[in-house]
Amino acid sequence: MYKLALIGAGRIGRIHATNAHAHSELALAYVVDPVCANADAVCAATGAKRATVDEVFEDSTVDGVVIASSTDTHLDYCLRANGAGKAIFCEKPVDLDLGRAEGAEAQLAGARLLVGFNRRFDPSFQRLKAMLAEGAVGRLESLQITSNDPSPPPVSYVRVSGGLFVDMAIHDFDVSRWLLDEEPGEVFAWGSCLVDPEIGAAGDLDTARTLLRTASGKLCVISNSRRSGFGYDQRIEAFGSAGMTCAKNVTTSTVEVWTEEGVRSDPFSNFFLDRYSVAYQAEMAHFAEVLSGRRQPLVTFSDGVAALRLAVAATRSRETGAPVTIHPA
Ligand SMILES: NC(=O)c1ccc[n+]([C@@H]2O[C@H](COP(=O)([O-])OP(=O)(O)OC[C@H]3O[C@@H](n4cnc5c(N)ncnc54)[C@H](O)[C@@H]3O)[C@@H](O)[C@H]2O)c1
Repeated sequence: MYKLALIGAGRIGRIHATNAHAHSELALAYVVDPVCANADAVCAATGAKRATVDEVFEDSTVDGVVIASSTDTHLDYCLRANGAGKAIFCEKPVDLDLGRAEGAEAQLAGARLLVGFNRRFDPSFQRLKAMLAEGAVGRLESLQITSNDPSPPPVSYVRVSGGLFVDMAIHDFDVSRWLLDEEPGEVFAWGSCLVDPEIGAAGDLDTARTLLRTASGKLCVISNSRRSGFGYDQRIEAFGSAGMTCAKNVTTSTVEVWTEEGVRSDPFSNFFLDRYSVAYQAEMAHFAEVLSGRRQPLVTFSDGVAALRLAVAATRSRETGAPVTIHPA
């Protein structure tokens, strides 16, 4: 059994705690969270004990840490955990500051560190990736990634999130790199505040379109909104020289009702907790493989930095109205 500590017991931390607790090779021993009620809820559900972050890093019997605290804490905890010899599962984004993240890359590039880009572990997206690799639609030419939240987060979350591109679209930047199999070299983005004026007052956007271009000319359009109004809208279309492969939205059941008024289906998954529940289990299972040394992390710290680079470029492009060329560090 590999002994784990969870740092940050909020929305996503609770999911990771449940999945770690259910995994036969993992034992969740400690939970760190300054909000005691959050830590205590996870402890009650898993049998773990509340601890301080110093206690976790000083305990040589802790094999790995799951970092699911607020984004501005991720990089410091990654560096401390790596220094203490722990394997790391760190939520996205790796940091809010690209310069800091790039500065830590040499140190963390070879670490046993898995970044939580959960969409790479989604069975439908993995199947789509496999279709591309098999050449089922010929040579990939362009991608359309649609990623719309059901409804906007609280403004308190928006204020510390890093903004729509860094907080939300970063998943799509990672998916684009993963599927294009080539680094986007140019980024152009438009953004607006159309959904919630309070998001605009907090200095952020809630609606965006981003265009990416790779050196060989492959194109990707990413569509984001903080409000679909009909559930979690997660679709990918990949166009190739011999056809198109797509992953559609997932409904809560496959049951449909056909009447003279038309066809009605069950709703789409409501949000990330249900839409990606299988992906979260799979990424925790992969973390167990990383801990045991059976596999190298499928999503590295450098992948986290590369996605952040695209997010920062999109932010700058939106601000300046001009395309931004990517210069990897
Ligand atoms: N991969 C995904 O699908 C996904 C989904 C949601 C959130 N996230 C990421 O996970 C992180 C947490 O998001 P959330 O939605 O769970 O937020 P949240 O606000 O629900 O939870 C964050 C928790 O971290 C705790 N915390 C804050 N500072 C801390 C510190 N210094 N040490 C320990 N704990 C601390 C808070 O008290 C809170 O309980 C964010 O970086 C977010 O971007 C990823």
